[in-house]
Amino acid sequence: MESMGAVLNRSEVPLPGVETMALEKVDRPERIEQENRLTVGELFVDDARMTCRDVNVYYGEKHAIRNVSIDVGRNQVLAMIGPSGCGKSTFLRCLNRMNDTVDTCRVSGDIFLDQLNIYDKSVDVVPLRAQVGMVFQKPNPFPKSIYDNVAYGPKIHGLASSRSELDGVVESSLKKAGLWKEVSDRLDQPGTGLSGGQQQRLCIARAIAVRPEVILMDEPCSALDPIATATVENLIAELQEQYTIVIVTHNMQQAARVSQRTAYFHLGDLIEVGGTDRIFTNPRHRLTEDYITGRFG
Ligand SMILES: Nc1ncnc2c1ncn2[C@@H]1O[C@H](COP(=O)(O)OP(=O)(O)OP(=O)(O)O)[C@@H](O)[C@H]1O
Ligand SMILES: [Mg+2]
Repeated sequence: MESMGAVLNRSEVPLPGVETMALEKVDRPERIEQENRLTVGELFVDDARMTCRDVNVYYGEKHAIRNVSIDVGRNQVLAMIGPSGCGKSTFLRCLNRMNDTVDTCRVSGDIFLDQLNIYDKSVDVVPLRAQVGMVFQKPNPFPKSIYDNVAYGPKIHGLASSRSELDGVVESSLKKAGLWKEVSDRLDQPGTGLSGGQQQRLCIARAIAVRPEVILMDEPCSALDPIATATVENLIAELQEQYTIVIVTHNMQQAARVSQRTAYFHLGDLIEVGGTDRIFTNPRHRLTEDYITGRFG
């Protein structure tokens, strides 16, 4: 186990617009002030599914992610929070090399999925993106039937050798995504005809169908109503038994409900990481506290 509270993230960038607040006198001697841009907290875990070390991301000249090191624990949910534009989606997309699709984007550092360095030249991104699946903010079913939305991935990845096996994959994926009961009698109808919450669960079923190890979710509930949101949140809790999940959210109650660990990003820096309960009750960095108490962002 590496040392807690490791000092990793160095930046001299000033913080325009962040007001210096007088903190009440509290019994927290280790409070880190806002000028300090070193990552604080518990960055590493004993049983990591993904390990990220010194990750930097540039869009052309723009340095969007600075020296981020963090572990994603196996069968855990890691929530990534922070103000708009701080780099949450950028960092999430590093985890399955989705940034490769952005011409100006350059990623440095190491990211491992278990023992595999996913940025190694020999890595084929197509199977990688099945192993590390992604669910986007806006549900984006293919313009195909419900069945074909789920069957598409297993077909192209050769995960089913017969129609009946494919039927089985579609059914089990829809069941795991909590959608089977609602759609089992209309699998041939278009996925785009479902409600927003159903479409998002269809997209989760589509990600699950290719047997991922990690599921990345970028604000998966932001287009959903509270009932559909609750359904997806419950689903995340169930999925976590089998998968490792990284979720970006603007909703701090959601982060508190679904995750075991939380990472707070600010202007491209990973400011603080730790157990979700600790982050929300006893943040060590002033910037984390300002954000979770609504003073910034
Ligand atoms: N394709 C791109 N080209 C150039 N700059 C980009 C690109 N995508 C993101 N950026 C910049 O990188 C920074 C981080 O953006 P990112 O989308 O990761 O933030 P975010 O934390 O996900 O924000 P939000 O909460 O609004 O989704 C921003 O300054 C953004 O303008
Ligand atoms: Mg984003």
